[in-house]
Amino acid sequence: MKTLDIALYPGDGIGIDVTAEAVKALQAVAQEGGFGLKLTELDWGQRYWKRTGKVAPDDYLTVLADHPLVYLGALGDPANVPDHISIRPLIEMRQRFDQYACVRPATLFPGTTTPLANRHPGDIDLVVIRENSEGEYVDAGGLFKAGTPDGVALQTAIHTRKGIERILRFGFETARKRARKRLTLVTKSNALKYSMVYWDQIFETVKAEYPEITCDKCHVDAMTMALVLKPQHYDVLVCSNMFGDIISDLAGAIAGSIGLAPSANLNPERCFPSLFEPVHGSAPDIAGKGLANPLAAIRSAAMLLDFAGEPAAAARIERAVVEQLAAAAVRTPDLGGRATTAEVGDDIARRLRAAR
Ligand code: IPM
Ligand code: MG
Repeated sequence: MKTLDIALYPGDGIGIDVTAEAVKALQAVAQEGGFGLKLTELDWGQRYWKRTGKVAPDDYLTVLADHPLVYLGALGDPANVPDHISIRPLIEMRQRFDQYACVRPATLFPGTTTPLANRHPGDIDLVVIRENSEGEYVDAGGLFKAGTPDGVALQTAIHTRKGIERILRFGFETARKRARKRLTLVTKSNALKYSMVYWDQIFETVKAEYPEITCDKCHVDAMTMALVLKPQHYDVLVCSNMFGDIISDLAGAIAGSIGLAPSANLNPERCFPSLFEPVHGSAPDIAGKGLANPLAAIRSAAMLLDFAGEPAAAARIERAVVEQLAAAAVRTPDLGGRATTAEVGDDIARRLRAAR
């Protein structure tokens, strides 16, 4: 029997709560799907820091490299450790494992509401494809005379031809598989005359290979307006790292709740592990209280299955989520309900078992 080898990295705060529910969903589909699960749980994050003064062991990338799939809950608890330290492993995994394609779907499902007026399910069905390995997130910069009135901070963004080309191709391939076959490049070439003009130029070359895709470009500032004013226009949005970070939070919010937004950090060539995580953070203020919505985490587990070659099992999870949302009975407070994290997860697992 095929076994999926998954490193389970719940992390901190509600990451721990929602990972438990994602595991229930995985277990509920494994048997029927005819595959096994080998879950290796890692207690890295604040728990590890309390014992060792580090958020992960020094060789954590080597440990993870043995697992083709990594499932992450969320990282950080700024009351204990500054976020830029807690979150470092996430950024390092993305870069060192060349997880250059970050996929963040945003769909408005029946039974949920968007904060936008006069928008209904069907009006929002898009996916943000975020370049995930370079841009502003590269560790290139420094401080000069920081503690003095003449302090200077440099944070240099890096955009390579290889990096731009491969994420554009990934975006076009994604658009090719979708019904509307539309792609929008999120740019800012009116102001960033080196980096984003370079993106625009490479976009023109790559798009010539995909004549069946309808393309346009939009500056990132205008994009934030357009997503609020006419979200129905958008299908696949390709963004640089920083722009994708911002646009994907907006996309998650207009699709009802960041508590529903899943993500995949893919190394499409499968030379390194790929990483799956909800878009939301660790929300330490509500951790352990049963308040967190586990659906983003559960949907991220579905994305893991899809990438691992189990699209039918992935679709079953996604269907159970859609049905639960439509039924509007069992839901967490962010969606106006009173159910706990575990009640929502148990209801999904029950639906998955009943739907066999
Ligand atoms: C995200 C998060 C991360 C990012 C943080 C936690 C470093 O906001 O995955 O969108 O900026 O990429
Ligand atoms: Mg973000």
